[in-house]
Amino acid sequence: MMQKESELQSWWKELREEGHGDKKNEPWWPKMQNREELIETCTMIIWIASALHAAVNFGQYPYAGFLPNRRTISRRFMPEKGTSDYDELESNPDKLFLRTITAQLQTLLGIALIEILSRHSTDEVYLGKRDTPEWTSDKNPLQAFEEFGKKLGDIEERIIARNHDKMLKNRVGPVVMPYTLLFPTSEGGITGKGIPNSVSI
Ligand SMILES: [Fe+2]
Repeated sequence: MMQKESELQSWWKELREEGHGDKKNEPWWPKMQNREELIETCTMIIWIASALHAAVNFGQYPYAGFLPNRRTISRRFMPEKGTSDYDELESNPDKLFLRTITAQLQTLLGIALIEILSRHSTDEVYLGKRDTPEWTSDKNPLQAFEEFGKKLGDIEERIIARNHDKMLKNRVGPVVMPYTLLFPTSEGGITGKGIPNSVSI
């Protein structure tokens, strides 16, 4: 036990002082003195890099792939009464709107970027899955991993049930777009669902 604790301490020291040297003196670092702290920290890292990231990332194209839905900049001030812009706003609002929001080239660049960010590769490995089933022969972690996978499946079923609950206006509103971002798995492509096991950016 003693040896494991000092291994944990030296790994944590290296992570803090070498890996994140610019932050090594911050007061918020966990002390990492026991298993509970290790579990807590790993859980936080796994949550951020998997489910939290998936929930904010993979809806980008569905939400913002149509630029008028989510403009990235305004190129003009709000027109003031008595100006020619204001007259145009009254006579041809669509044209003034298009001249105000992101220009065409920047729009194309933006859409291309979020299309890439929102896309799963065909060989994506999702949370609760492995591409190396022989990762361990140890029974306890294998069983824990299987249970974890089952819990993720239950979460998907709960999300589906809520999507059908007409009382939940945020899911069953005028825009018929069910919430799917925390479905654990997905096909490859732009699907608006699926939690990858890890992220690159
Ligand atoms: Fe990302």
